[in-house]
Amino acid sequence: MLQDHIILVTGAGSGLGLGVAKYFQAQGATVIISDVSSDKIKQLKTEFPNDSLILQCDVTQISDLEQCRDAIIEKYGRLDALIGAQGVFDGNIPLKQMTSTRLDALFNEIFNVNVKGYLLSAHVFHDLLEQSKGSIVLTTSTAAYAADGGGAVYTASKGAIRSLVNQLAFEFAPNIRVNAVAPAAIGNSELKGPKSLNLDNQKQSDIPKDAFLGLFQSISLLQQLPDANDYGALYAFLASKQNIVMTGQTIVADQGLLNRTLLTQS
Ligand SMILES: NC(=O)c1ccc[n+]([C@@H]2O[C@H](COP(=O)([O-])OP(=O)(O)OC[C@H]3O[C@@H](n4cnc5c(N)ncnc54)[C@H](O)[C@@H]3O)[C@@H](O)[C@H]2O)c1
Repeated sequence: MLQDHIILVTGAGSGLGLGVAKYFQAQGATVIISDVSSDKIKQLKTEFPNDSLILQCDVTQISDLEQCRDAIIEKYGRLDALIGAQGVFDGNIPLKQMTSTRLDALFNEIFNVNVKGYLLSAHVFHDLLEQSKGSIVLTTSTAAYAADGGGAVYTASKGAIRSLVNQLAFEFAPNIRVNAVAPAAIGNSELKGPKSLNLDNQKQSDIPKDAFLGLFQSISLLQQLPDANDYGALYAFLASKQNIVMTGQTIVADQGLLNRTLLTQS
């Protein structure tokens, strides 16, 4: 599906972005992998073929994004799709338990990565995508649709992406298609907590596997906890030139989570 596609995945150092990047490669794409974490970049350079473009890039920094753009132009001369997969969690701390000062810092940290990072990436790469009649696929969450998928700040940041897709699809039409995916759970995620609450040493993967699976199965209609790779096909279709049918949409990939009013407990 992705033969001859040159695709940039931001936030591809682990979890969803990495799974999607690997899926894309298997579908014939040339994938540019980028992430803010130098450790992850170092590790990925040992895993991917020598000639792969693997770049350290902080999506909140215009200069990083521009360097990434320059490297892509120099090596490939074009870009067919931009996939945004970066994110930071807010630690799911209730608002009332935070001081205003902490909330202020948390908001800046989460919105910087989860919202501004997506907006800046779309801005920096839109001209390349315009030329290739390309595609943008962003990542939101079921937290954008229902409560208790995170704390207030994470939830608001994911709601912002859901709206951003509408506006970008409108502004970039007809040449660039803009869509998003809203996952519920990712089995092999390393999603980190926020530095502003001193929770950046906590990762989703620290939750014991059985406990996480148990929670997932108690609220989901489908019972298989998906790994990042399992979301690959959705992203691949949205990123591909085969998608001439959708723009401005968010696909909710929630294993049936939201399709339920809890009256019975099975
Ligand atoms: N984990 C879940 O269950 C889940 C559910 C729904 C949605 N999501 C969303 O999926 C996306 C991927 O998260 P994940 O669960 O795979 O977590 P992850 O931590 O494994 O992957 C996110 C990556 O983003 C990178 N990143 C963070 N800040 C960055 C920045 N400024 N610039 C560039 N890269 C940056 C991290 O280093 C990390 O490699 C996020 O947007 C997350 O909110 C996750």
